Amino acid sequence: MEPPFDLAETDRLLSTTRSVRKRLDFTRPVEREVVLDCVRLSQQAPTGSNTQKWAWLLVDEAERRRSLGDLYRELADAMFGQARQAFANDVQTERVYSSVEYLGEHMGDAPLLAIPCVAKDTFGELAAGNAAGAVTYGSIFPAVWSFMLALRSRGLGSTLTTMHLVRERECAELLGIPEDYVQVGLIPVAYTIGTDFKPAMRPSPETITHWNQW
Ligand SMILES: Cc1cc2nc3c(=O)[nH]c(=O)nc-3n(C[C@H](O)[C@H](O)[C@H](O)COP(=O)(O)O)c2cc1C
Repeated sequence: MEPPFDLAETDRLLSTTRSVRKRLDFTRPVEREVVLDCVRLSQQAPTGSNTQKWAWLLVDEAERRRSLGDLYRELADAMFGQARQAFANDVQTERVYSSVEYLGEHMGDAPLLAIPCVAKDTFGELAAGNAAGAVTYGSIFPAVWSFMLALRSRGLGSTLTTMHLVRERECAELLGIPEDYVQVGLIPVAYTIGTDFKPAMRPSPETITHWNQW
């Protein structure tokens, strides 16, 4: 039977949606309708208990982007030295660090910053014993990834970042995010400079897969 999709294209989308930092085009505006289409597609993602308590804060005003960029830069500067010492010094990791450092400097230059939010978990103890099933985080990241894939298929790039969350409250006050919502990231969104991204090096799936018994 013919597969229901063009596998060459869907596999290319799934394997080449990278964290884009140095190839974000800060000069080209991002249309609101295009980003809304990506949010619309993200709303098809699965959620625990079919909750769908998502909210997206999309920031395209220059002044607010600058404030978020300044906040991110301070945190990136502080965290970067520590991270560099803690992890392996291989070529791929070094490339990621150089790219992370660049985004630390330029977060506020992205034409649009997306902050995915989700209503705080109200399931109490049930959620505490089941981190993956918790309605909060487990129910937003599938949507975040769908959003990033939808961006990529339209020629836009993004990076899921979480660094600013140590100062989440400050950011919530800046943007008026209500107390019963948690932010899960800060995502720069821009058209990419070129669209030829490649799959990353990953070990073969057999090395991380167990059949029937670990
Ligand atoms: C939970 C999570 C948090 C992340 N936080 C950051 C971050 O704060 N800053 C950043 O530049 N990248 C961040 N990243 C992106 C990773 O660095 C990136 O996914 C990883 O290096 C692999 O690169 P790839 O996405 O191109 O495959 C984060 C990714 C995830 C899943």
